[in-house]
Amino acid sequence: IGRPIRFFETVDSTQKIAHELAANGAEEGTIVLADEQTMGRGRLSRGWHSKKGKGIWMSLIIRPDIAVQKAPQFTLLAAVGVAGAIEDVAGLSPKIKWPNDLLIEGKKVCGILTEMVSQENRVLAIIIGIGINVNHRPGDFPDALKDKATSLAIHAGKEIPRAKLVQSFCLKFERLYDTYLKAGFLPVKTLWETYACSIGQRIEARMVQGTIRGKALGIDEEGVLLLQDDSGRIHHIYSADIEIEKD
Ligand code: BTN
Repeated sequence: IGRPIRFFETVDSTQKIAHELAANGAEEGTIVLADEQTMGRGRLSRGWHSKKGKGIWMSLIIRPDIAVQKAPQFTLLAAVGVAGAIEDVAGLSPKIKWPNDLLIEGKKVCGILTEMVSQENRVLAIIIGIGINVNHRPGDFPDALKDKATSLAIHAGKEIPRAKLVQSFCLKFERLYDTYLKAGFLPVKTLWETYACSIGQRIEARMVQGTIRGKALGIDEEGVLLLQDDSGRIHHIYSADIEIEKD
Protein backbone atom coordinates (compact mmCIF):
# COMPACT_ATOMS: atom_id res chain seq x y z
CA ILE A 1 0.00 0.00 0.00
CA GLY A 2 1.39 3.37 -0.98
CA ARG A 3 3.44 2.07 -3.88
CA PRO A 4 3.27 4.13 -5.99
CA ILE A 5 2.36 7.42 -4.31
CA ARG A 6 1.35 10.10 -6.80
CA PHE A 7 1.85 13.49 -5.16
CA PHE A 8 0.32 16.73 -6.40
CA GLU A 9 0.63 20.28 -5.05
CA THR A 10 -2.88 21.30 -6.01
CA VAL A 11 -5.70 19.25 -7.48
CA ASP A 12 -9.44 19.62 -7.69
CA SER A 13 -9.98 16.32 -5.88
CA THR A 14 -7.66 13.34 -5.26
CA GLN A 15 -10.78 11.20 -5.38
CA LYS A 16 -11.49 12.29 -8.93
CA ILE A 17 -7.90 11.61 -10.02
CA ALA A 18 -7.91 8.21 -8.33
CA HIS A 19 -11.09 7.30 -10.23
CA GLU A 20 -9.40 8.23 -13.51
CA LEU A 21 -6.28 6.23 -12.62
CA ALA A 22 -8.36 3.24 -11.54
CA ALA A 23 -10.26 3.30 -14.84
CA ASN A 24 -6.90 3.22 -16.62
CA GLY A 25 -5.69 0.13 -14.80
CA ALA A 26 -3.77 1.68 -11.87
CA GLU A 27 -2.40 -1.04 -9.65
CA GLU A 28 -3.65 -1.94 -6.22
CA GLY A 29 -2.00 0.11 -3.51
CA THR A 30 -1.75 3.30 -5.59
CA ILE A 31 -2.19 6.44 -3.49
CA VAL A 32 -3.02 9.90 -4.80
CA LEU A 33 -1.92 12.55 -2.31
CA ALA A 34 -2.27 16.32 -2.53
CA ASP A 35 -1.18 19.34 -0.52
CA GLU A 36 -4.33 21.22 -1.46
CA GLN A 37 -7.71 20.41 -3.02
CA THR A 38 -9.82 23.08 -4.65
CA MET A 39 -12.93 20.90 -4.93
CA GLY A 40 -12.58 18.33 -2.15
CA ARG A 41 -15.62 16.08 -1.96
CA GLY A 42 -17.34 14.77 1.14
CA ARG A 43 -20.12 12.25 1.59
CA LEU A 44 -23.63 12.97 0.37
CA SER A 45 -22.44 15.51 -2.24
CA ARG A 46 -21.00 17.78 0.41
CA GLY A 47 -17.73 19.64 -0.03
CA TRP A 48 -14.59 18.94 1.97
CA HIS A 49 -12.47 21.81 3.26
CA SER A 50 -8.87 20.99 2.16
CA LYS A 51 -6.62 23.89 3.08
CA LYS A 52 -3.15 23.99 1.56
CA GLY A 53 -0.38 22.47 3.63
CA LYS A 54 -2.60 21.69 6.62
CA GLY A 55 -3.93 18.22 6.11
CA ILE A 56 -3.63 14.84 4.50
CA TRP A 57 -5.85 14.67 1.46
CA MET A 58 -5.45 11.30 -0.15
CA SER A 59 -7.21 8.57 -2.10
CA LEU A 60 -6.18 4.94 -2.07
CA ILE A 61 -6.98 2.38 -4.78
CA ILE A 62 -7.45 -1.27 -3.85
CA ARG A 63 -8.76 -4.19 -5.86
CA PRO A 64 -10.10 -6.92 -3.59
CA ASP A 65 -12.07 -9.67 -5.31
CA ILE A 66 -15.28 -9.27 -3.29
CA ALA A 67 -19.01 -8.75 -3.80
CA VAL A 68 -20.20 -5.13 -3.97
CA GLN A 69 -22.15 -5.49 -0.70
CA LYS A 70 -18.87 -5.83 1.17
CA ALA A 71 -17.32 -2.60 -0.12
CA PRO A 72 -18.60 -0.46 2.82
CA GLN A 73 -16.49 -2.61 5.16
CA PHE A 74 -13.49 -0.78 3.79
CA THR A 75 -14.68 2.48 5.32
CA LEU A 76 -14.39 0.76 8.70
CA LEU A 77 -11.07 -0.86 7.83
CA ALA A 78 -9.61 2.47 6.77
CA ALA A 79 -10.98 4.16 9.90
CA VAL A 80 -9.15 1.64 12.10
CA GLY A 81 -5.97 2.26 10.09
CA VAL A 82 -6.19 6.03 10.47
CA ALA A 83 -7.04 5.75 14.18
CA GLY A 84 -3.96 3.59 14.75
CA ALA A 85 -1.72 5.95 12.80
CA ILE A 86 -2.99 8.93 14.81
CA GLU A 87 -2.28 7.11 18.10
CA ASP A 88 1.18 6.21 16.86
CA VAL A 89 2.35 9.49 15.42
CA ALA A 90 0.35 12.11 17.34
CA GLY A 91 -0.12 10.24 20.62
CA LEU A 92 -3.84 11.04 20.61
CA SER A 93 -6.82 8.70 21.07
CA PRO A 94 -9.42 9.29 18.38
CA LYS A 95 -12.85 7.67 18.44
CA ILE A 96 -14.67 6.34 15.40
CA LYS A 97 -18.23 7.45 14.79
CA TRP A 98 -19.93 4.99 12.45
CA PRO A 99 -19.46 4.86 9.55
CA ASN A 100 -16.80 7.29 8.53
CA ASP A 101 -15.87 9.97 11.03
CA LEU A 102 -12.95 10.10 13.42
CA LEU A 103 -13.53 12.38 16.37
CA ILE A 104 -11.33 13.89 19.04
CA GLU A 105 -13.25 15.29 22.00
CA GLY A 106 -16.41 15.10 19.93
CA LYS A 107 -15.07 17.10 16.98
CA LYS A 108 -14.30 15.75 13.54
CA VAL A 109 -10.64 15.25 12.72
CA CYS A 110 -10.99 12.86 9.77
CA GLY A 111 -13.60 11.87 7.19
CA ILE A 112 -13.59 8.86 4.90
CA LEU A 113 -15.35 8.51 1.56
CA THR A 114 -15.45 5.01 0.09
CA GLU A 115 -16.50 4.64 -3.52
CA MET A 116 -16.29 1.72 -5.91
CA VAL A 117 -16.17 0.67 -9.49
CA SER A 118 -18.02 -2.60 -10.08
CA GLN A 119 -19.17 -5.02 -12.71
CA GLU A 120 -21.92 -7.59 -12.30
CA ASN A 121 -21.97 -7.47 -8.51
CA ARG A 122 -18.18 -7.81 -8.19
CA VAL A 123 -15.81 -5.06 -7.15
CA LEU A 124 -13.26 -3.93 -9.74
CA ALA A 125 -11.76 -1.18 -7.61
CA ILE A 126 -12.44 0.53 -4.31
CA ILE A 127 -11.33 4.11 -3.93
CA ILE A 128 -10.95 5.16 -0.34
CA GLY A 129 -10.76 8.92 0.11
CA ILE A 130 -9.30 10.06 3.40
CA GLY A 131 -9.17 13.61 4.69
CA ILE A 132 -7.30 14.25 7.94
CA ASN A 133 -7.12 17.68 9.55
CA VAL A 134 -3.53 17.67 10.76
CA ASN A 135 -1.91 21.04 11.33
CA HIS A 136 -4.83 23.48 11.29
CA ARG A 137 -4.93 26.11 13.97
CA PRO A 138 -8.39 27.11 15.21
CA GLY A 139 -8.45 30.12 12.86
CA ASP A 140 -7.77 27.98 9.79
CA PHE A 141 -11.28 26.53 9.69
CA PRO A 142 -14.08 28.43 7.96
CA ASP A 143 -16.80 29.73 10.30
CA ALA A 144 -19.24 26.99 9.36
CA LEU A 145 -16.81 24.31 10.58
CA LYS A 146 -15.45 26.03 13.69
CA ASP A 147 -17.66 24.20 16.17
CA LYS A 148 -17.59 20.84 14.44
CA ALA A 149 -14.02 20.35 13.18
CA THR A 150 -10.68 20.08 14.87
CA SER A 151 -7.11 19.12 13.98
CA LEU A 152 -4.44 16.86 15.45
CA ALA A 153 -2.14 19.81 16.15
CA ILE A 154 -4.82 21.57 18.19
CA HIS A 155 -4.99 18.60 20.58
CA ALA A 156 -1.35 17.56 20.50
CA GLY A 157 -0.20 21.13 21.11
CA LYS A 158 2.39 20.83 18.35
CA GLU A 159 2.71 20.30 14.61
CA ILE A 160 2.45 16.70 13.46
CA PRO A 161 4.66 15.44 10.59
CA ARG A 162 2.29 14.55 7.78
CA ALA A 163 4.67 12.20 5.96
CA LYS A 164 5.06 10.06 9.10
CA LEU A 165 1.30 9.87 9.44
CA VAL A 166 0.87 8.71 5.84
CA GLN A 167 3.63 6.15 6.31
CA SER A 168 2.13 4.79 9.51
CA PHE A 169 -1.32 4.61 7.92
CA CYS A 170 0.04 2.64 4.95
CA LEU A 171 1.68 0.07 7.23
CA LYS A 172 -1.38 -0.32 9.40
CA PHE A 173 -3.77 -0.49 6.49
CA GLU A 174 -1.60 -3.09 4.77
CA ARG A 175 -1.70 -5.34 7.85
CA LEU A 176 -5.44 -4.94 8.27
CA TYR A 177 -6.05 -5.61 4.60
CA ASP A 178 -3.92 -8.76 4.81
CA THR A 179 -5.89 -9.94 7.83
CA TYR A 180 -9.13 -9.18 6.02
CA LEU A 181 -8.13 -11.19 2.95
CA LYS A 182 -7.02 -14.15 5.06
CA ALA A 183 -9.53 -14.17 7.90
CA GLY A 184 -12.43 -12.00 6.76
CA PHE A 185 -14.04 -8.99 8.40
CA LEU A 186 -14.45 -10.37 11.93
CA PRO A 187 -10.98 -9.53 13.30
CA VAL A 188 -11.29 -6.03 11.79
CA LYS A 189 -14.71 -5.66 13.42
CA THR A 190 -13.25 -6.57 16.82
CA LEU A 191 -10.59 -3.89 16.46
CA TRP A 192 -13.10 -1.37 15.14
CA GLU A 193 -15.22 -1.89 18.25
CA THR A 194 -12.33 -0.81 20.50
CA TYR A 195 -12.43 2.62 18.84
CA ALA A 196 -16.18 3.00 18.36
CA CYS A 197 -17.85 5.83 20.26
CA SER A 198 -21.50 5.46 19.35
CA ILE A 199 -22.09 1.85 20.39
CA GLY A 200 -24.44 1.37 23.34
CA GLN A 201 -25.50 5.02 23.12
CA ARG A 202 -28.69 6.68 22.04
CA ILE A 203 -28.32 8.02 18.54
CA GLU A 204 -30.31 9.57 15.78
CA ALA A 205 -29.82 8.14 12.28
CA ARG A 206 -30.82 10.54 9.52
CA MET A 207 -31.42 8.96 6.14
CA VAL A 208 -33.05 9.95 2.89
CA GLN A 209 -36.05 7.84 3.91
CA GLY A 210 -36.39 9.54 7.29
CA THR A 211 -34.96 9.62 10.78
CA ILE A 212 -34.80 6.77 13.28
CA ARG A 213 -33.96 7.28 16.95
CA GLY A 214 -32.83 4.56 19.30
CA LYS A 215 -29.92 2.69 20.78
CA ALA A 216 -26.93 1.70 18.66
CA LEU A 217 -26.38 -1.98 19.39
CA GLY A 218 -23.25 -2.42 17.30
CA ILE A 219 -22.32 -3.50 13.81
CA ASP A 220 -22.95 -6.88 12.24
CA GLU A 221 -20.42 -9.07 10.44
CA GLU A 222 -20.94 -6.99 7.28
CA GLY A 223 -20.28 -3.65 8.94
CA VAL A 224 -23.95 -2.64 8.93
CA LEU A 225 -25.14 -0.62 11.94
CA LEU A 226 -27.82 -2.20 14.13
CA LEU A 227 -30.16 0.30 15.68
CA GLN A 228 -32.93 -0.62 18.14
CA ASP A 229 -35.83 1.82 18.22
CA ASP A 230 -37.99 2.44 21.28
CA SER A 231 -40.49 -0.23 20.28
CA GLY A 232 -37.67 -2.78 20.36
CA ARG A 233 -37.47 -3.22 16.61
CA ILE A 234 -33.96 -3.61 15.19
CA HIS A 235 -33.13 -1.65 12.05
CA HIS A 236 -30.21 -2.39 9.71
CA ILE A 237 -28.63 0.92 8.75
CA TYR A 238 -26.49 0.84 5.61
CA SER A 239 -25.84 4.55 5.27
CA ALA A 240 -26.85 7.51 7.41
CA ASP A 241 -25.77 10.63 9.20
CA ILE A 242 -25.42 9.81 12.87
CA GLU A 243 -25.98 12.22 15.70
CA ILE A 244 -25.14 10.99 19.18
CA GLU A 245 -27.87 12.21 21.53
CA LYS A 246 -26.66 14.16 24.53
CA ASP A 247 -28.29 13.39 27.83
C1 BTN B 1 -16.76 12.95 4.66
O1 BTN B 1 -16.57 12.94 5.87
O2 BTN B 1 -17.76 13.45 4.16
C2 BTN B 1 -15.69 12.32 3.77
C3 BTN B 1 -14.61 13.30 3.42
C4 BTN B 1 -13.55 12.72 2.49
C5 BTN B 1 -12.52 13.75 2.09
C6 BTN B 1 -11.37 13.17 1.33
S1 BTN B 1 -10.00 14.26 1.18
C7 BTN B 1 -9.25 13.21 0.00
C8 BTN B 1 -10.34 12.66 -0.88
N1 BTN B 1 -10.59 13.55 -2.01
C9 BTN B 1 -11.80 14.11 -1.96
O3 BTN B 1 -12.26 14.92 -2.78
N2 BTN B 1 -12.46 13.68 -0.86
C10 BTN B 1 -11.66 12.72 -0.10
